[in-house]
Amino acid sequence: MNMNGIIAKKRDGYKLTEEEIRFFVNGYTRGDIPDYQASALLMAIYIRGLDEEEIFVLTDAMRYSGEVNDLSDIPGIKVDKHSTGGVGDKTSLIIAPIAASYGVPIAKMSGRGLGFTGGTVDKMESIPGFRTSLSQEDFMNQVKDTGIAIIGQTSEVAPADKKLYALRDVTATVGNVGLITSSIMSKKLASGSDAILLDVKCGDGSFMKTEEAASELAALMVKVGTMAGKRMAAIISDMGSPLGYAVGNSLEIIEVMETLKGYGPKDLVEIAMVLAGGMIYLGGKADSFEEGKKMAEVAIENGQALEKFREFVKAQGGNPDIVDDYTLLPEATFSVPVEADRDGYVANLFAEKTGLASQQAGAGRATKEEEIDMAAGIYLGKKPGDEVRRGDYLAMVYGNNIAKVKAAAASLKEAFVISDEMPEKQPLIKKTIGL
Ligand code: URA
Repeated sequence: MNMNGIIAKKRDGYKLTEEEIRFFVNGYTRGDIPDYQASALLMAIYIRGLDEEEIFVLTDAMRYSGEVNDLSDIPGIKVDKHSTGGVGDKTSLIIAPIAASYGVPIAKMSGRGLGFTGGTVDKMESIPGFRTSLSQEDFMNQVKDTGIAIIGQTSEVAPADKKLYALRDVTATVGNVGLITSSIMSKKLASGSDAILLDVKCGDGSFMKTEEAASELAALMVKVGTMAGKRMAAIISDMGSPLGYAVGNSLEIIEVMETLKGYGPKDLVEIAMVLAGGMIYLGGKADSFEEGKKMAEVAIENGQALEKFREFVKAQGGNPDIVDDYTLLPEATFSVPVEADRDGYVANLFAEKTGLASQQAGAGRATKEEEIDMAAGIYLGKKPGDEVRRGDYLAMVYGNNIAKVKAAAASLKEAFVISDEMPEKQPLIKKTIGL
């Protein structure tokens, strides 16, 4: 078997065999296949596509390219959740304690921010003392003792994806549904949970700009997960505008706690209840998704989810007093308002531009090595559909570097579209699969 032949076969539109796909993934991970041949094959795949069987084999080969977590020592149905990335998306930190408060074990690996999107690991690191890296033994023990642990993904998990993703990123081969599916699902399957709930985003602030493209990706990921023997479900949700009012690490942690106390923003609460209900259902603690959703609401009302969050923060070395005293979180030295320059309605608030402005304020990294300003970010004053008067504050931008904060405020202004017409309300949750 040789790479030249495999590249030519896919270039000409033929289906690859299991042996050929495994030869490529294993050879590339080991360093035997050079980047130029891997790039050529990726481009052939990007143009010609992969069928479901090829996608499953590719996912499986990538899943077993490194360590595969064995969570079988932890009793119960372990449930994971994955979002394809968003702006202001802090739902994992809300729904994981809700589901765990009903005894659904959460043994989760999360990612860092990527480009203009935020990452759960960065958000958790804004909590003083919180450890996002635990030994396998501590990770397992924490899940057994408190029912919940969330850590950063280690480089031992799906190393083939790490290499291939970096290559795709610089060869214009990211946006292929088969490659995205194998990339995401290889990591999720290697993380070892029994059930996976996917939140596939569509709209301005996501990879998949249309609902159709997001639905296709969601259906494919559900199929591949099911073929791997996992319980799967997915939602397709809108990421045209940021979720909630807070964007940026410590600001989002405050919004998480406000939501767990019952004071969350409407859009964030809506999606959190659906996802938490889905997790409770997939975890076998409710007979239906509807029942799971009701249970999620109760966990907020009676405070059990907030208590589980406190327990989780403490178990992972963080200061649990943040729940009662937000000033214990990193606070910004500077704040610059963004004001409306005309009367009207907020017709749109572009998620991608908002995410980029938050990154510019210091909340995200422009390069891999850059340090994050944990206090930096945006607190929105207005969201799409809100009426505004000239001079009203649209948002406040925070950070510890005044030049960055001012530049971010100027950029953020471009994210708002104000018009005379009240915009039509778009549904946040477009579709569900398997719920
Ligand atoms: N996220 C991933 O992990 N992989 C992709 O290919 C796209 C988004």
